[in-house]
Amino acid sequence: MESIRKPRGTMDVLAPDVYTWQYIESTARRVASKFGFDEIRTPTFEELALFSRGVGECTDVVQKEMYTFEDKEGKLFALRPEGTASVARALIENGKCSDTLPIKLSYIINCFRYEKPQAGRSREFEQFGVEMFGSSDAGADFTVISLAASLLTELGIGNISLHVNSIGCPDCRPSYRAALVEYFEKNADGLCDTCKTRLKTNPLRVLDCKCESCKKLAENAPKTIDHLCEGCKNHMDKLTAMLDACGLNYVIDTHIVRGLDYYTKTVFEFIAEGIGAQSTVCGGGRYDGLVKELGGPALPACGFAMGITRLILAMEQNGVKVPGKNAPALYIASMGQTAQIKAQEIVWNLRKEGIYAECDVVGRSLKAQMKYADKTGAMKVLIIGDSELESGRAMLRDMTGAMGENTQTEIEIAKVAEYLR
Ligand code: HAM
Repeated sequence: MESIRKPRGTMDVLAPDVYTWQYIESTARRVASKFGFDEIRTPTFEELALFSRGVGECTDVVQKEMYTFEDKEGKLFALRPEGTASVARALIENGKCSDTLPIKLSYIINCFRYEKPQAGRSREFEQFGVEMFGSSDAGADFTVISLAASLLTELGIGNISLHVNSIGCPDCRPSYRAALVEYFEKNADGLCDTCKTRLKTNPLRVLDCKCESCKKLAENAPKTIDHLCEGCKNHMDKLTAMLDACGLNYVIDTHIVRGLDYYTKTVFEFIAEGIGAQSTVCGGGRYDGLVKELGGPALPACGFAMGITRLILAMEQNGVKVPGKNAPALYIASMGQTAQIKAQEIVWNLRKEGIYAECDVVGRSLKAQMKYADKTGAMKVLIIGDSELESGRAMLRDMTGAMGENTQTEIEIAKVAEYLR
């Protein structure tokens, strides 16, 4: 019969790769808690309207990339393409907007986008993200950026740069938008077809088009930071002063505009070298209007998300090795059914004490059991058969080579745990 394969753009993660995923997830959780962020969990699917309203009707994510479906009652849903809109919705729905501010939340989620799969880009992918609500001060932007920087450092990712920009607020963006449209309209012949449309729907996106001719035009386009109002300019200055004070390197990159509509003021990306076209490992920014847009109070916010597969590529690029599977502290080799039962009893008690122990469950010969114990990397092997059970004593063999010539000692079986510490 023909076998069934996983959907294009999804992945199975098996050992030993899964240890890298676990390492990243546990490091992310540890760093998030060091910065005082609580975890939040939200549904994998949401009402479609959440993303069209939150992320933006004219964004690529909403227009082209969402996995949408109708349920049996005819309601329209979407698999989440990102986490920010869901977190904002959850905050409003659970009455948390009036909690003591700031509210600091983090998450590790799977997201779904119908994109063309390539290295670092898949249709189901995992994100680690943080969101901070209730502060319009640049200190909040600094907190999330420094959290991202801290995590990247802890993961051993060195050749990465922080790109920062401000895309202004509803006060100053209209005049910037007008200047941008005027510039590109004058040069419309050089724009790709997608950007000709973007010029009408979302002109800022022309600035981060990957098409060569658009990139060339974007070089001389008006820059957001030259059109910022006093408030946005002060905000940017305060953020960069904090980055400077803490020695966090960054470049002001006026082409960073981000692909989602909710951003205001600060936008940023961490871009890794040498991992291919999908080099944005982390993207984020401020989104002061989103909570209100979704029916909540005016609650300023900022955050970021990182793609786990891109972190893995960057770690590989940096030659980072992560701890793999633990080796058993003890393997019990048994001969005969009574010894097999005893082996299970000893292993059960050791595991209850938090010690990783193994014994034969396949019915291997003694020789094959020793070979298997070696393969698992077991540090010690206890060999038991009928006579050992009768005397209560057995040989404990050291497999690490740390004991030189003295590789075995006779021990009291009942006291085996003491020899493993
Ligand atoms: P985003 O830039 O769309 O922002 O995604 C954030 C990160 O998710 C990207 O930098 C990338 O590492 C990863 N990512 C995105 N799409 C894919 C894909 N198809 N395959 C693999 N990895 C991918 C957001 O999602 C915002 N919610 C970030 C944010 C949080 N802004 C404020 N708070």
